[in-house]
Amino acid sequence: MLDKLTVPGGFVDLHVHFREPSKNDSENFASGSEAAVIGGFVLACDMPNNPGAETWSEDRVDEKHELIVQQSYCPIGVYAGSQPEADNISEIPGMIRKCVGTKLYMAPTTNNPYDREPEEFREVLKVLKETAPEKPVMLHPGVENLEAMVAMVAGEFGLPVHACHVNNTAQVEVINKAKAKGWQASCGVCVHHLVMTSHDSGTRGWKARMQPPLSRQDEAEALLDRLAKGEIDVIETDHAPHSQEAKARVDLHNPTGNEHDHSNTCYGVPGIEFAAQLMFYQAMLGRISIERLLDAMSTRPAEIIGVSFSPKTKVTWDLSVQKEISSDDVVSGAGWTPFLGMRTVGQVIETRIKGTPVIQNNDVNQRRAEVVKSRGSLI
Ligand code: NCD
Ligand code: ZN
Ligand code: ZN
Repeated sequence: MLDKLTVPGGFVDLHVHFREPSKNDSENFASGSEAAVIGGFVLACDMPNNPGAETWSEDRVDEKHELIVQQSYCPIGVYAGSQPEADNISEIPGMIRKCVGTKLYMAPTTNNPYDREPEEFREVLKVLKETAPEKPVMLHPGVENLEAMVAMVAGEFGLPVHACHVNNTAQVEVINKAKAKGWQASCGVCVHHLVMTSHDSGTRGWKARMQPPLSRQDEAEALLDRLAKGEIDVIETDHAPHSQEAKARVDLHNPTGNEHDHSNTCYGVPGIEFAAQLMFYQAMLGRISIERLLDAMSTRPAEIIGVSFSPKTKVTWDLSVQKEISSDDVVSGAGWTPFLGMRTVGQVIETRIKGTPVIQNNDVNQRRAEVVKSRGSLI
């Protein structure tokens, strides 16, 4: 493998939870975006499910945008949220013009205890069709409802649809079929679904529990194969910075991982600072090409939200650096990593975002905060 690699543009993460504002204080835009730039990202897109402070109103979007400008190390985009219980349809037009897309939760996960049917989102899709038909609808699918929802969002309404964090090849097939019909559809896989397996949930409890859950090893390997072939469009981190204390609490109160014990669940894992390094290691093992890796972490995610790169945005990696992840390497405010002990390749030596030297000499140097709102934005 090359020793030095310059990524024109840098990596884009379509799926993070930086949790600000919220009553969960283990992460904020400063700590989350610092972890992102250390990990080679130049843009992260933040999800709306913040406990106690969901992104369900235009005021909340404005509040998030202010925090981003004050704190972030890199550009950030925000997703608008709309759940049946949010009752916020009138807020959608104001929100969506300031957001990179919408996120809809169709199955239980952090801060959403409900299973939802496609029909429950008809009203929000109608308003999105009128106000932002070009912006993607990101889905947290359930086990059974992805196909029907993709047919509704992309087939019936003609909106771009993205299946987040696929954990099995059947979901990839649903997206393949949608693409074959000419619908605008894409999907993403998380690094933890590639390098961890269901076995880890049996040995590490809640530190290895997320939604969707880790897959069996044959399925995890099949996902990597689909990613390498380009059938899975992007790698997204789903960086979910739960504290160790929060994880320990549910280990005590819900050791069997009962999904219906909603007050005692804590789904998700942090790790944005390690995502690219873990994937470069997979490239070194020959399981994915460098070209496909850059496509899945930079070109494709940028296309999905419609941003382009300034020629002055670039990230230079030293790929001769090989390490084993230790606790000292954690940057996220979550303070721990599920990837402890795993092998990595690469270290960012320099990041420029529109010319601003955000990382220099392997270290964070300067902030380049910007809010990404619309398609056509330059980062
Ligand atoms: C995410 C979180 O913690 O917000 N958790 C997770 O298990 N993935 C929510 C989500 O993406 O479903
Ligand atoms: Zn999700
Ligand atoms: Zn998520």
